[in-house]
Amino acid sequence: MKLTRPVPLHKSWIEKEEEAEVLETLRSGWLTRGPRTQAFERSFADYVGCRHAIGVNSGTAALHLALASLGIGEGDEVVTTPITFAATGNVIVLQRAHPVFADVEADTLNIDPAEVAARITAKTRAILPVHLFGHPCEMDAIMALARARQLAVIEDAAHAIEARYRGRPIGAIGDLTAFSFYATKNITTGEGGMVTTNDDGLAERLRLLRLHGVVGNAGATSAKAPWDVVLAGYNYTMSDIQAALGLHQLEKIDGYWDRRRRLAAAYDDALKHVEEVRRVGVREGVRHAYHLYPILLRTEDLTVDRDAVVEALREAGVGAGVHFRALHLMSFYRERFGFAPGDFPNAEYAADRLISLPLYPKMEEEDVEGVVEALMEVVRRLRKRKGR
Ligand SMILES: Cc1ncc(COP(=O)(O)O)c(C=O)c1O
Repeated sequence: MKLTRPVPLHKSWIEKEEEAEVLETLRSGWLTRGPRTQAFERSFADYVGCRHAIGVNSGTAALHLALASLGIGEGDEVVTTPITFAATGNVIVLQRAHPVFADVEADTLNIDPAEVAARITAKTRAILPVHLFGHPCEMDAIMALARARQLAVIEDAAHAIEARYRGRPIGAIGDLTAFSFYATKNITTGEGGMVTTNDDGLAERLRLLRLHGVVGNAGATSAKAPWDVVLAGYNYTMSDIQAALGLHQLEKIDGYWDRRRRLAAAYDDALKHVEEVRRVGVREGVRHAYHLYPILLRTEDLTVDRDAVVEALREAGVGAGVHFRALHLMSFYRERFGFAPGDFPNAEYAADRLISLPLYPKMEEEDVEGVVEALMEVVRRLRKRKGR
């Protein structure tokens, strides 16, 4: 079916419940962290089945606090994947620790536990897997490695709110898990994030670090309500305006997920016979959050590179994206840490070929058909002629 309307890479879905809750929050006079943030934290902890959920103002803040709460710092190494967003690597650097990349599985593009094992040294403090696209990493192998070497596991679940690994929800497996509610994520608070943990001590440190390292009532100035600064913390709190959105988005998450699942299945079906496209692998025994719909373009069969195909798709009305270019090859990482092309072959192969097709609950199945039709038209036009 031809594309009947442009399909952008993302469209938010905010309804009257969210609008009314935000308006009520504004009228309540309590705008910063308050009853709505606390209620959202409780609902989120219930959703992922863990003891503590700590609301923050971005997924990046969630990752940063997770590292800080473990006291990761100068001289420490943290092992992560090169196929991820800047924030995953940057927070390691912000803590003055050393980012150590491990190559990805050729099939799923998630971090490869065997590669992680090969990169663990006496300085390693933590493993930071990313559940890329919403597809869970091989957590049994990662947890076994970490437990054998007394390492912490911090999961980047920015894409993976609804994901499960062998029946267990992501957010209740590693020591700490970071979620994002950025505008394009599976549920949104505009900007926002959450850290989850089952560890009471880590939860206490996270709460301290989130709000200036202050104990007692930081807003009180009277001598009757003394407060103290026990460490140098951040101002990473989530506001009640953000939580007003999150509370209602979370109520609708299962319906959204069901739509994502059906749209992803429609893509799977339609792309099966497109020779120039390889779908990214999904392992057995997991529940995918379907945050993104990634494909690997067989650029060997085309006359142009991936970026030209993304551009051609945009001209055809399809908002395609790239998640992600290899982080170790970004200028900062090359210059500061000396990474170079060839370091992580699977990651680099994928980074040159990945395209994210639009996937969000507001889409209809006809949109999927239109996107695939447009993609087929573009690759047909740019295909190498064989036999010459
Ligand atoms: C894998 C990954 N980790 C972390 C983040 C950071 O989240 P935020 O944008 O909420 O700071 C993002 C993206 O937005 C992401 O895609």
